[in-house]
Amino acid sequence: MDLTKEEQSILDGEFGEGAQKAIELIVALGKIYGADGLVDITSAHLSGASYKTIGDGGLLYLEDMVNGGAKVTVPSTLNPVGMDRKRWNEMHIKDDFAEKQIRIIDLYGKMGIQTTCSCTPYDGVNVPKLGDHVAWAESSALSYVNSFIGARTNREGGPGALAAAILGKTANYGLHLKENRAPTVVIDADIPDTLFSHSLLGQAVGSVIGGGIPYYRGIKPGMEEGKTMAAAMAAAGAVAMFHVEGVTPEWKDFDVSELEVVHIGKKELDDAYDKLNTADDVQLIAIGCPHLTEKEMHEIASLLKGRKKRRTDVEIWFCTSERVRSKCPEDVRIMEEFGPVLADTCMVVSPIEGTFSRTATNSCKAGNYLPTLCSQKVMCKDIAELLKVVE
Ligand code: F3S
Repeated sequence: MDLTKEEQSILDGEFGEGAQKAIELIVALGKIYGADGLVDITSAHLSGASYKTIGDGGLLYLEDMVNGGAKVTVPSTLNPVGMDRKRWNEMHIKDDFAEKQIRIIDLYGKMGIQTTCSCTPYDGVNVPKLGDHVAWAESSALSYVNSFIGARTNREGGPGALAAAILGKTANYGLHLKENRAPTVVIDADIPDTLFSHSLLGQAVGSVIGGGIPYYRGIKPGMEEGKTMAAAMAAAGAVAMFHVEGVTPEWKDFDVSELEVVHIGKKELDDAYDKLNTADDVQLIAIGCPHLTEKEMHEIASLLKGRKKRRTDVEIWFCTSERVRSKCPEDVRIMEEFGPVLADTCMVVSPIEGTFSRTATNSCKAGNYLPTLCSQKVMCKDIAELLKVVE
C-alpha cells in the first residue's frame, strides 16, 4: 500500500496514539482487501452505540479511546442506541442499563461525534454528495447512500468507521472504486406499489442473490421505499448497494445487457412473507425500521386519526430521529394516542427481550433480526394490517 509522507508519520506515532491506532486498523484492512492507498472521506456514520450490543467491553474500549484523546476529524453521526434518552422509562429500561447507555452516548460526544442516534442520518443531518468517499457503518444507511446518493462506502463495522472518522481517511478498495459498483444481476420486479411490498422485495432479492449489486427494473422507489429495500436486502443478503433504472444516480453508468435477469413477483414476495411470520398474536408492535421520515409520520398519523386502540395488552412504539420527532408535533400528538414516538432508538437495539417475546413490525430487516438478536417470534405485515391487531 502506498502511504503519503504524512500518513507514514501518523503510522509512526508522530500525531499521537489515537491517530496511530486508527491508521493501523485502516492500513490492516486495506492490506487484507488489496487497497492501493488511503482516500480522504467527507463523513462517517458509526454503529456500535447500544449498550445492549457493545456491553461493558465496548464501554471500556470507548473510555480508553477518550482517555487517549481520540477525536474525529470529519463530520460523524451515531446509530440508534438502546433507549430513548429522555423517555427510557416508557421502554421498560432498567436504571443500570440507562446509566451505562448515557455514558456511552457521552463518550461518543467527547470524541466530537454528533450524537443524533439515528439510522437515517442522510435524512437531513449527515448528507453526503454524489461521488463523496465516506465511511459508514449501519447496513441500511450505507446501502442507501451508496445507491440513492452515489456516495462511496464499504460495509464498515463500528471500529473501522470510528478509525476512519478519527483519521479522516479510509482504505481505497471495494465500493470506493467505480469499477466495483457495477451491477451483477438484473431484477425484473413486478410488485404492488406499497411500502411493505418494497420491504418484501428487498427481503426476497437479498435471499435469492446473497450479496452482489442488483439492478432493478419495474419500480420507482422514493426515499421511504428505498430505505426499506436497502434495510431488507442488507439483512437478508448483505447487499451494500443497488441500482434502480431511471431513479438512482449511477444507473446509466454500466452496461447490463449481458447480465442474468431474475424475476421477482407475487410468489417470491409470498415466500418471503411466510418465512418471516412466526407469531399469530403479539405483545409489541414496533414501527420505524429504518427510522420514520416526516412523510411516514404524516401518513401514519392520517391512518390513525379518529381510530381507537382497544387492546391494552399490546404496546405500540414508533421509532424515529429526534429531528423528525421535533418537526411533526401534530403527528406525534395523534400517534401518541396509540403509543410513544421514540427517538434515538429502535426495537432491535433495545433490550426488548426482557419484556416481550412476540413482536410485530412492518420492516423485513427487523423481521430478520428480532428472532436472532431479541429472541422474538415475529409478525411482519403492512402497517394497516398491524393496526387491526389492536382495534
Ligand atoms: Fe435502524 Fe434499528 Fe432498523 S438501527 S434499520 S431501526 S434495526
